[in-house]
Parts: sequence; structure tokens; C-alpha cells
Amino acid sequence: MQDRFQRQINYLRISVTDRCNLRCVYCMPAEGVQCLPHSEILTLEEIVDVVKAGVRVGIRKVRLTGGEPLLRRGILELIKKLSDIPEIDDIALTTNGILLGDMAKDLKVAGLKRVNISLDTLQPARFHRITRGGNLNLVRRGIDAALENGLEPVKINTVAIRGFNDDELLELARLSMELPLHVRFIELMPIGTSDDWSRERFISTQEVKELIGGALGNLEDEKVIAGSGPARYSRLPGAPGTIGFISAVSNHFCATCNRLRLTATGQLRPCLFSGRETDLKQALRADAGPDELARIFQKAILAKPDGHNMAVGWQKDDRIMSQIGG
Ligand code: GTP
Ligand code: 5AD
Ligand code: SF4
Repeated sequence: MQDRFQRQINYLRISVTDRCNLRCVYCMPAEGVQCLPHSEILTLEEIVDVVKAGVRVGIRKVRLTGGEPLLRRGILELIKKLSDIPEIDDIALTTNGILLGDMAKDLKVAGLKRVNISLDTLQPARFHRITRGGNLNLVRRGIDAALENGLEPVKINTVAIRGFNDDELLELARLSMELPLHVRFIELMPIGTSDDWSRERFISTQEVKELIGGALGNLEDEKVIAGSGPARYSRLPGAPGTIGFISAVSNHFCATCNRLRLTATGQLRPCLFSGRETDLKQALRADAGPDELARIFQKAILAKPDGHNMAVGWQKDDRIMSQIGG
């Protein structure tokens, strides 16, 4: 259905858990975040009911996020149930890739179409530092397994961070020349409970484009690579993969925003930057039927703001990214 600003809302991002097996410096504080009690988190059946209600108001694409979605017990069963809903034409998942090597095959069999994998560095020691303890080899294995099992197109999410990975952005871009990978550079957003965010760390899309174009050749515009997210794509000459840019800060995409978020605790969040959530969990636990759930969905769509302006004062937003799902 359309919201108040004539945007067609058809994409639901579902955070299936707030837990994560990494603690990336731009996402979490060093001590991690307190996990929510199990009873606060939607059950798999509740998530399926939410999606079925969403379908009634026009949801056609779902993305499973976290925390780390592959940590959620029953994730394969959930994917299977979601892929049995005929109206849903795209089921994707955003993961840090740590568990993907072991799970890619089963995910494919369950009905998952594709994955987006976070990868901010190609250096094992640096990866260990950025993720506070992660093993880069596991992610590399996960990427290979995603390609081998046809969880395609495989997209890589790289947050560009000055002082962390600005000296390897070219090498990351080169991955798209070696493999059919879609490497997306994401502008660092001032959101999350990180104690490490600062304005100085921000690198704009423009800067990354100039760097890549200058060193690796002309970036030619490409069509959108299967998906409904905000990335804009280009291709390096002869490359099997593409380079994408997610300009969340310098050129926000609010005017074409097509999504709602379901938090791990069952709140419909109209915008990554809006706290105006609509509670679905209470209705689910009061045995609301599909009509009532669809009505709540409608209300959430109509509560979607026309946009946000992150540039105003660059205020740090302390909401917990791993509970919202990015
Ligand atoms: P597809 O295009 O369908 O492949 O997915 P996607 O790019 O929407 O999903 P993904 O989870 O990989 O998100 C990539 C980055 O885009 C993450 O850093 C998200 O936080 C960011 N992102 C996704 N949706 C929004 C949004 O509505 N607003 C903002 N500001 N950032 C978003
Ligand atoms: N700014 C930009 N991207 C972020 N992500 C997490 N926190 C931030 C932030 N502050 C990204 C992760 C992951 C995706 C879901 O969100 O790197 O790829
Ligand atoms: Fe890193 Fe994603 Fe886990 Fe946050 S939720 S710590 S960005 S892997």
C-alpha cells in the first residue's frame, strides 16, 4: 500500500534476534549490549503471522536481519515457512558471514534466495580488531559457500570508515573484478551504541567514487542488482561483479523509501531513524486475528515520516542497531 507521501511500501526488514557473535566497533560498545529476555522476542510463529498480515497490505519482499540472524534457533524453519507464502517473491538475509560456511547449503534448501554479507576489511588482524575478536577466514569461507550454493546475487556490505579501512577500499572494490560479487560501500551513519563513532570517521560516497574511478577505471552506471534497497550500482570495465554505493548520509533516499522494519521485540518501526514504533507484539499475544494485525500494519505505514535529516547537528543516535536490524 501507499503511505502518505505516495511511496509504495512493499519491503519488510525483520530483525529475528538482537544477539550477535561479533561486536563491531561502529555498532556496539566494548562491553557489548545486554541481551533481551527470551520472552520479549517474537517467536517464529509470531513472525510468520506478522508477514502474513504484511502481505495483506502489500509486503512482497522480506529480509532477515539481526543482530546476527543465523544465531536464531529455527532460522531454517522460519525461512521455509516464509517461502511457502506465495505472495512473497524475495527472501534475503543480511549476515556477518561467520556461520555461513556451514549453513549456506541448508539455507538454500530452505528457500532463501540471497545473502548480503558484511565485510569491512580483508586483513585478518584488522578484522579481529574491528569486530572485537572475529575470524576473517570464516567470513571468506562464508562468501565462497554463498557463491557455491547459488545464494545470489551475493552482496558485500562495507562501511567506509576513515582511520579503519580507508587504505583498503580499492582492494575491496577489486573483489568485484575477481568474483561475481556486488561490493557496496556504505556511508557510516551516526547511529548505534558504539563508543567509537565520530564525524571525522565519515567518508562520503563521492570520495569513494573518485578514489575507485581514479585508480581502477571508469565506473559505468548499472541497473539495480536484484533488490529493493537503497544502493546505486556501477561496474568497472569487464568486471563480473559491481560496485554499489549506499549514501545514507550525503544523499539520503527517503523520497523512494519502500520499507518498514520489524524489531526483534515486535515493534513496527517506520524508519531507521524514527522512534515512532507501532506495537504488534501486544496484539499478537492477545490473539489478534489477521484483520486486526493488517490494520496495525496500515497504521504503521501511515505513521511513516517523509524523511529524516541526519545532517542537522550530526546528533549521535543511541538506539541499539542490533535490535533494529540495520
Ligand atoms: P537489497 O538492496 O535488497 O539487497 O538490500 P539492502 O541494501 O536494503 O539491505 P542490507 O541489510 O544489506 O543493508 C545495507 C545497508 O543499507 C545497511 O547499512 C543498512 O543499515 C542500510 N539501509 C537499509 N535500509 C535503510 C534505510 O531505510 N535507511 C537508511 N538510512 N539505511 C538503510
Ligand atoms: N553505519 C552504517 N552501516 C552500519 N551497519 C551497522 N552499523 C552501521 C552504521 N553505524 C551495517 C553493517 C551491516 C548492515 C546491516 O548495517 O555493516 O552490513
Ligand atoms: Fe557487527 Fe552486525 Fe553484529 Fe553489529 S550486528 S556487531 S554490525 S555483525
